[in-house]
Amino acid sequence: MTYKEEYQNSLQNSIRFWQEKSADLPWYQKPSEVALKDDGGIHHWFADSKMNTCYMAVDYHCENGRSSQDALIYDSAVSGKSTRYTYGELKQEVAKTAGMLVELGVKKGDRVVLYMPMIAESAIAMLACSRIGAVHCVVFGGFAAPELASRIDDCTPVIILSASCGVEVNKIIPYKPILDNALKLSSHQPLKSVVLVRDELEDMPVPEMVDGFDVDWHSLKTIAKPVDCVPVRGDDLLYILYTSGTTGKPKGVTRESGGHAVAMKYSMKAIYDMNPGDVFWAASDVGWVVGHSYIVYAPLLQGCTSIFYEGKPIMTPDAGSFWRIIEDYKVKALFTAPTAFRAIKKEDPDGKLIKKYNISSLEKIFAAGERLDPPTYDWLVEKTGKPVFDHWWQTETGWAIVANMTGIEEMPVKPGSSTVPTPGFDIRILDDKGVELPTGEQGNICIKLPLPPSCLTKIYGDDNRFYNEYLSRFKGYYSSGDGGYFDEDGYLFIMGRTDDVINISGHRLSTGEMEEIVAKHKSVAECAVVGINDKLKGQIPLGFVVLKAGENITYQKLMHDLVQMVRSDIGAVACYKKTIIVKRLPKTRSGKILRKTMRQMVDGDEYIVPSTIDDPAIINEIELKIRAV
Ligand code: COA
Ligand code: AMP
Repeated sequence: MTYKEEYQNSLQNSIRFWQEKSADLPWYQKPSEVALKDDGGIHHWFADSKMNTCYMAVDYHCENGRSSQDALIYDSAVSGKSTRYTYGELKQEVAKTAGMLVELGVKKGDRVVLYMPMIAESAIAMLACSRIGAVHCVVFGGFAAPELASRIDDCTPVIILSASCGVEVNKIIPYKPILDNALKLSSHQPLKSVVLVRDELEDMPVPEMVDGFDVDWHSLKTIAKPVDCVPVRGDDLLYILYTSGTTGKPKGVTRESGGHAVAMKYSMKAIYDMNPGDVFWAASDVGWVVGHSYIVYAPLLQGCTSIFYEGKPIMTPDAGSFWRIIEDYKVKALFTAPTAFRAIKKEDPDGKLIKKYNISSLEKIFAAGERLDPPTYDWLVEKTGKPVFDHWWQTETGWAIVANMTGIEEMPVKPGSSTVPTPGFDIRILDDKGVELPTGEQGNICIKLPLPPSCLTKIYGDDNRFYNEYLSRFKGYYSSGDGGYFDEDGYLFIMGRTDDVINISGHRLSTGEMEEIVAKHKSVAECAVVGINDKLKGQIPLGFVVLKAGENITYQKLMHDLVQMVRSDIGAVACYKKTIIVKRLPKTRSGKILRKTMRQMVDGDEYIVPSTIDDPAIINEIELKIRAV
């Protein structure tokens, strides 16, 4: 089967296509129909099947000869700990952890928030939720208390699972005080909070436990009884994962169990060319979609061994840590964000550390989260000698929308392109009026409905938001928020977001949200935050600030305040470190701030001053300010 045949088949006979792909999975009961349409015309794949994702990902493999194969290998470069879990051991751990949740009264359909570092228990807890039909909602450990609080209020969890601390390069981040703070800020209060007290390193904090509310993870696990998998419907939610939109209110992307399992398993072979027994490594964090899909669910659904890495690509202890992991565990495919490779390249430009390790097991390298820039691509290919593939995807889809389908037909790589549409995704480039653009012309990247399995079917807790934010702009299409074009060979080039979302080190954040925070400063009259190019992190935020009349705050004080405000409201991951004070902001006559023009000015890109600008003289003022910093 060629890629073209597979792709055409997926669009022309989509029901039969996905039915065939689902045949490999062990359902308790197959669905009566492959997709059920709701009133809004949205497809719910495998909706009335009976299944359990944890069963498919863990128990099934134990019943079919994989009990003693490694399922999960936890390697912590920050604490020096390494633990292997065979499928048999993973099943026991997950069943016990599920028992812990049952002990606390968690039932099918209940939400459970996880605010945890990259320790194996995070993956185990996700699977434990899935085992009993509870819906997990993992909040990235780098988010500050207000971000955690807004997610708690939105998904109203029965229980929160957390750990005493995370470890970041040379510092320990106590999680418990952040969690306590978040619970003070949130209106919703869970019944209990389970805290895993870490003690691998000497200076790890001992958290203060609140009597009757905080429960010690290890003690609870000792008394918990293992529980079995609970059958759920295919359209029951497996998880909610919040992602940034253009405003401060995070969007709870919902993931239905049935379609997710099918897409995950299909992608492991079709995109990554992974077979059962192979070792797969997604170097990401369970707080992001890559962690959900490719650290936890997809590799296990495919019967692979998944590497669970707590550490950074550099500094833990050096830029050789990725190559060390590949040698130690014989990794066959590596998937991470381009920023990780840029960081390695910066520290080890000649690739000396790559040569120190035996990376012969590695067959392919995949990158996503942001565009894989051609210089990084070239360096990686040259220094590793391995094929490297960019692929484009979003939290909303849970898997790649555009990729090189290396398990079907490996296509020639064009640096700068994520290659071709993944089967199931009917991609069109539309202009702002919704007219399809010809090859080579850049426009809004849209997906013609229906969306394939695993894609979101709604935004949690808000029935209209999915329609309003994704479907209303172009009737019959999902609007991705990214711009780009197809070339004459059908390769898609992603040219960046068309909204205020930015990608910092592959982490998706909202400049709109940062703007709301900066605007709260008492000296700030108005502001605009834009994402500018950064050699290491891809993009970083930059604030343009207009001070209130008569303000005499120093630049240093303002800068310090704004950095602290963004850190304590969003988190250090926002990397807000740059501000320029300007007299006024460029606006259109109708008052719209010209953020794109300012961004282009800072990046040194060509820009056209819109004819609707209120006062063209402002552009010169801004240019002078930018040149002065
Ligand atoms: N918990 C708490 N804090 C965290 C955190 C976490 N899980 N993750 C990051 N942070 C903090 C960092 O400590 C840092 O804080 P600081 O400003 O006080 O030093 C800040 O957030 C920024 O972190 P990061 O973006 O990771 O920058 P860095 O300079 O520490 O490291 C890289 C740079 C490139 C090495 C790092 O960004 C990286 O490993 N990127 C890979 C990206 C990735 O996996 N993306 C997932 C999508 S596939
Ligand atoms: P997230 O939902 O956090 O995965 O972020 C999704 C966004 O990241 C997309 O909408 C893109 O803007 C960007 N992105 C992800 N992968 C790529 C890629 N391979 N090339 C370009 N942009 C990407």
